[in-house]
Amino acid sequence: MYAALKSIGAYVPKNILTNKDFEKMVDTSDEWIKKRTGIEKRHIADENEATSDLGVKAALKAIERANIEKEEIDAIICATISPDHLCMPSTACLIADKLGIGNVPAFDISAACSGFVYALAMAKSFVESKMFKNVLIIGAEKLSAIVDYTDRTTCVLFGDGAGAAVIGGSDKKDESVLDVKISADGKYQDFLITPGCGSKYPCSQEVLENRLNYIKMKGNETFKLAVKTLTSDVLEIMEKNGLTSEDIDYFIPHQANYRIIEAVRSKMNFPVEKTVLTVAKYGNTSAASIPMAMNDWYESGKLKKGDLMLLDTFGGGLTWGSALVHFAGNPL
Ligand code: ACO
Repeated sequence: MYAALKSIGAYVPKNILTNKDFEKMVDTSDEWIKKRTGIEKRHIADENEATSDLGVKAALKAIERANIEKEEIDAIICATISPDHLCMPSTACLIADKLGIGNVPAFDISAACSGFVYALAMAKSFVESKMFKNVLIIGAEKLSAIVDYTDRTTCVLFGDGAGAAVIGGSDKKDESVLDVKISADGKYQDFLITPGCGSKYPCSQEVLENRLNYIKMKGNETFKLAVKTLTSDVLEIMEKNGLTSEDIDYFIPHQANYRIIEAVRSKMNFPVEKTVLTVAKYGNTSAASIPMAMNDWYESGKLKKGDLMLLDTFGGGLTWGSALVHFAGNPL
């Protein structure tokens, strides 16, 4: 029994913030943002839309496209750093409730941008150990709730959205989740951090006045480490599985910065036309970025059953991961 990615779905909120909008908010320019990041716009959730609302819309599409009933889902994992509530209940529990799914395990994982690949690793183990048959994995983020719109070094980067997939069983290796590799190194914990409103600096007037409840990032240090780690990570997973770039149909990297993607792509010697790029239109949506990109490719008709995707991600923690995944979904 292999684990297989049976479907993909996504939800993108309708409101758009363009680079020009940011010119009116902070000391920045459309030219700077495009040149340094590749981002042109990002989607922003409504005030009354929470992360679980985004996640549930992506999940509904993934369940429908997997041709299963929601009652057949027997575990739900939500990867997010912008949960509806800080401590509890988990966003996965809220999504389960909104989907009308009860009596199944539902929990969140926190691995920042790497969250979807971490969730994929867990779902693969659950399915292959026969503990669960169908695991719904979701990457959902309302990052606009934790972005400091007075800090030009971070606010221009992030957007909102959600992606979801159903991981089920298959007896075909050429339709399976071939391999997933996840890692972390906590010594870089201060590269990307929301310092306040946890147990270390509980929410207080002082914490809020110092804006410690928002994302802080050492951008340049993160950038350099991302390129180095992602490059070695993808080369390692391909070598471990006896594959070269020529065996991969599509490269679906985390969409944080076009220059990071381009550096890794060129070091892999991978064709640009087979590299999925959504950073220009969605910005960095953290755990939602890879499933949103995969969904775009699927909805454009390019992703076919059996295609081999290389996923690659990097985020706060620091965490990182890569995966070799055959698409096992049906055509739209
Ligand atoms: N507009 C104009 N100028 C800016 C802006 C802005 N929005 N932001 C920063 N600058 C300025 C800086 O202040 C600095 O000015 P100075 O030279 O006078 O000090 C200058 O631009 C260069 O700043 P750098 O930080 O060195 O710029 P860099 O080329 O590194 O680009 C960026 C910054 C886009 C943040 C990049 O470092 C990056 O993408 N980092 C990695 C992000 C990432 O991958 N994160 C991981 C995932 S996120 C997660 O897990 C949630």
